[in-house]
Amino acid sequence: MFSKELVEKIRAAFPQSAVDFNGNNRSFFDNGTGTLVLKQAAKAEHDARINFSANIGGVFDESQQAMKIIREGRQAVADLLNAPSPENIISGESATSLVFNISYALGKEFTGIENVVATDYEHYTNVSPWEELKDQGKIKEVRYARVNMKDGTIDLEHLKGLIDENTKVVTITAASNFLGTKSPLEEIGKMAKEAGAYYFIDAVHQIMHGIIDVQELNCDFLVFSTYKIFSSHGSFLYGKKKYLEALRPFKVKTAPTTAPGKYEWGTRNQAFFAAFSAVVDHLEWIGREVQQQYSGKFTEFKGRRRFLKIAMDAIQQNEIGLSLAVLKGFEEVPGLLNMPGVTVYGLTDSQRLNERVPTFSFDVEGISGEEVAKRLWDEGRIAARSGHFYSLAQDLHEKQKVVRISLVQYNTLEEVRGFLKTLNSICESK
Ligand SMILES: Cc1ncc(COP(=O)(O)O)c(C=O)c1O
Repeated sequence: MFSKELVEKIRAAFPQSAVDFNGNNRSFFDNGTGTLVLKQAAKAEHDARINFSANIGGVFDESQQAMKIIREGRQAVADLLNAPSPENIISGESATSLVFNISYALGKEFTGIENVVATDYEHYTNVSPWEELKDQGKIKEVRYARVNMKDGTIDLEHLKGLIDENTKVVTITAASNFLGTKSPLEEIGKMAKEAGAYYFIDAVHQIMHGIIDVQELNCDFLVFSTYKIFSSHGSFLYGKKKYLEALRPFKVKTAPTTAPGKYEWGTRNQAFFAAFSAVVDHLEWIGREVQQQYSGKFTEFKGRRRFLKIAMDAIQQNEIGLSLAVLKGFEEVPGLLNMPGVTVYGLTDSQRLNERVPTFSFDVEGISGEEVAKRLWDEGRIAARSGHFYSLAQDLHEKQKVVRISLVQYNTLEEVRGFLKTLNSICESK
């Protein structure tokens, strides 16, 4: 796990990691819904907004500077994802808007006999755009691979069986925002490629938790949202150049005919790109902080790309430690009673924590999810949430509302202990 000193430095980079706007202590466990903002990201956004507020395309300095910031932001995303170039990077209002954007463009290529293969643990963002293609008669159907109810993983045999000669898109969430399960992206990618289908990844719930390398994954498209990774609302999409060039998205006639501009509806907000560059700088800084543990590793990558690999790997290792503490606590809190009546959905095997991110949805027998979330807040100052999280997995478990906690780099073992203690007292006092 991260050293205590590093955790302190990371927390110092997030002004509200310990206290909310009232100055009250609280533990922020609602990161799956949207993380806290990085101080430097907010500052960079503010500075770019004030200093370079001119729109792009002008010959004067402010406009030129705005264009530079946008290009640097795209380069930062390309470095984070190990994409070949900034031209592979499209920005959008949200992940949802970008999935619709690409699905509409793909729909123009289809004839009505095709199918799209997804899974039973997708977020609806990666369901409705494809169902929409079906409703419009652009494809015949959307097929969903089963989730193993025991451990929350994808039934790969079932998924394989769904792919046939009419499969034109295989699409999957990199990590389920309900179960926390990470998808076996490389294996699924191979299946997609063997079938000659586009491979589309929804990385919204994975981006803050570990390495994503679009070249290694050989995916054709990958989308994520920036507010899930310490920045402001917005999104980015990676696309393979040949497909970005070939596809015909909805666009106004006078907009650029090449990517990325071809896919972007309206001119861009330079402050948004400045903020995201600051996030990537922060991740690079983490990589530099822990680099001595990685001597001889990731040496095929140079400069910032190497430090980003190191950082994301270190973040994943640290989060495995947090997950272990949560799971052990669900079983038994040292010095406290066994936790009665808590059902955790998804993978709970502590030997397999590299197959999940630290997102845990659970139920407490006899208490509604809403009540548990409220009591966690009232009695323990734990910011958690109950809901369905727009996830198909929720339907699978036929639950109205569960409670979800999701942890990131600034969360601590002390916070996990505080959460477990409060949850335990809720369970005891039912
Ligand atoms: C896995 C996943 N996909 C997509 C989305 C939607 O992202 P956005 O709000 O940027 O459209 C979310 C949001 O929670 C998510 O968790």
